[in-house]
Amino acid sequence: MHNRKLDVCLSPELFHLYDHKDRVVIVTDILRATSCMTTAMAYGVNSITPVATVEECIELQNSGMICAAERGGEKVEGFELDNSPYSYMNPDLRGQDIGVTTTNGTMAITKSADALQVLAGSFLNISALADYLKTVDSDLLIFCAGWKGKFNLEDTLFAGALANMLSDSHEAECDAVLASGMLYDQVKDDLQNALKDSSHVQRLKRLNIDKDIAFCLTRDEYQAIPVLKDGKLVLLK
Ligand code: MLT
Repeated sequence: MHNRKLDVCLSPELFHLYDHKDRVVIVTDILRATSCMTTAMAYGVNSITPVATVEECIELQNSGMICAAERGGEKVEGFELDNSPYSYMNPDLRGQDIGVTTTNGTMAITKSADALQVLAGSFLNISALADYLKTVDSDLLIFCAGWKGKFNLEDTLFAGALANMLSDSHEAECDAVLASGMLYDQVKDDLQNALKDSSHVQRLKRLNIDKDIAFCLTRDEYQAIPVLKDGKLVLLK
């Protein structure tokens, strides 16, 4: 294998500064888009089509697809699914093709679409993801969806956790790799406490969506890794 490199992009507003076309891009939106996508693949959803806008999601719905839409943490009126991982545990969704748009996560995925490969990363599948990435002869970019272009803590902590797991196999590039890894090491024993004052945790708590938070911060619930194929997320085989 060549001397593989690893970078971390902390916000979509910085994405233009990073090489991604010849890399595997791991998009992370811990609360909650990529946690939902990982859960959906683990529960047998056939595919998830991520779209950046509600208008595109309406078109998918009009084509007969079951669709999820979230803005500001809340389900968009008129759509069947919200953006809770628990909603994807419904056995009725097994084998289904789902359309989805979220505030940040689906935009980050569509932004990365021309990468060598696009994967959805979460704490729920972090070890399976790290094990897979160690076998791939490619540079990597961990891409944090953030919040409306701004830094968010939970995505950065995931980036640091994954970067630390790859420190023996990949060479760190920009300081965001080191900073996120150091940050994760400081708080890894109690992520919920570390995030209790973070903006999206506070937002979700105001919306009485507390239970999603603990679940999305749980490591290694699943082996499933969502991968983007022809515009749809499917289970990486
Ligand atoms: C996002 O897109 O930032 C999240 O998915 C929002 C959420 O689910 O609350």
